[in-house]
Amino acid sequence: MEIAILPGDGIGPEICREAVKVIRTIAEKRNLKLDMWEGLVGGAALDIYGKPLPEETLEKALNSRAVLLGAVGGPKWDHVEYHLRPERALLALRERLGLYANLRPVVVFPELISASPLKEEVIKDTDILIIRELTGDVYFGTPRGIIKENGKRVGINTMRYDEEEIRRIARIAFESAMKRKKKVTSVDKSNVLECSVLWREVVSEVGKEFPEVELKHMYVDNCAMQLLWNPRQFDVIVTSNLFGDILSDEGAMITGSIGLLPSASLGVKHAMYEPIHGSAPDIAGQNSANPLATILSVAMMFRHSLAEPGIALAIEEAVRLILKEGYRTKEIWHDGEKLIGTSEMGDLVVGKLSEIL
Ligand code: IPM
Ligand code: MG
Repeated sequence: MEIAILPGDGIGPEICREAVKVIRTIAEKRNLKLDMWEGLVGGAALDIYGKPLPEETLEKALNSRAVLLGAVGGPKWDHVEYHLRPERALLALRERLGLYANLRPVVVFPELISASPLKEEVIKDTDILIIRELTGDVYFGTPRGIIKENGKRVGINTMRYDEEEIRRIARIAFESAMKRKKKVTSVDKSNVLECSVLWREVVSEVGKEFPEVELKHMYVDNCAMQLLWNPRQFDVIVTSNLFGDILSDEGAMITGSIGLLPSASLGVKHAMYEPIHGSAPDIAGQNSANPLATILSVAMMFRHSLAEPGIALAIEEAVRLILKEGYRTKEIWHDGEKLIGTSEMGDLVVGKLSEIL
């Protein structure tokens, strides 16, 4: 079984290094044959190949059981042409691998509750699964571009979903809810957008196939507010690409640490796992980034791509125990806790895992 490791830019390489240590430990302990192949993506690839997603990288991603991606982008490439931007590699990977379902769990760790800017009584016990559609919407709809009209520049993007695209993501949401608290909140803007009217219609149709699941519809602006006001009301949130992009960043702040949130992007044949946070160029190379979101993404990989839910739970448990013992990377550290670096955090997880497995 092959796993493609694409560290990317900024802190990407250092956090992926720790994730690789974790994968190696598991492979040894459990006698799994996991081959890892490392490739360039994003700005790192642009610097060497002149494009953010070289064919070799795409080829490997297409031929691997799963892809682990660090992060892409940074100020160094902020001014390159639009089609060469590091972010384009991410979007191209999502499109070429058909990764239409993006799972972003928002779970508040009791140990880190004080790291959130929100009140403990509001966020306590929050456990939301945000399911974001990832290959449609204004991100990919055409026509798009900047054109000239009557001597004026006009920017155009197209919000577009066909019913099949909505149906398949809705199914993922209902199926996920069946394994959780059986509640789906579908988020749209159907008071203004036709695209959302169709979204709401199709999600309701799919809902009829899952009579045990309670379905609620919510406008995206209201959802943005409800997430801060009463996050515990949510179980599974399903929404379109753009709304999901925005709501999942908001969700991350509920937990207080974007450095802790993993994600899985799933398609029919392929899957990619990545931390939700970006490349954090300001702290790159300082051994201070938090590798836990990437390590928890590895847990999602074992759960969704490698059919090893037990190993996934073991990784999650190891992370929880280390946080409980008071170890923290810089961005979540408070007085009285043990401040450690990126590689020490990786070593601690590896140590704990070796005990658990
Ligand atoms: C994300 C990111 C990406 C997105 C960017 C980097 C293209 O914000 O994965 O949430 O908008 O999808
Ligand atoms: Mg985003």
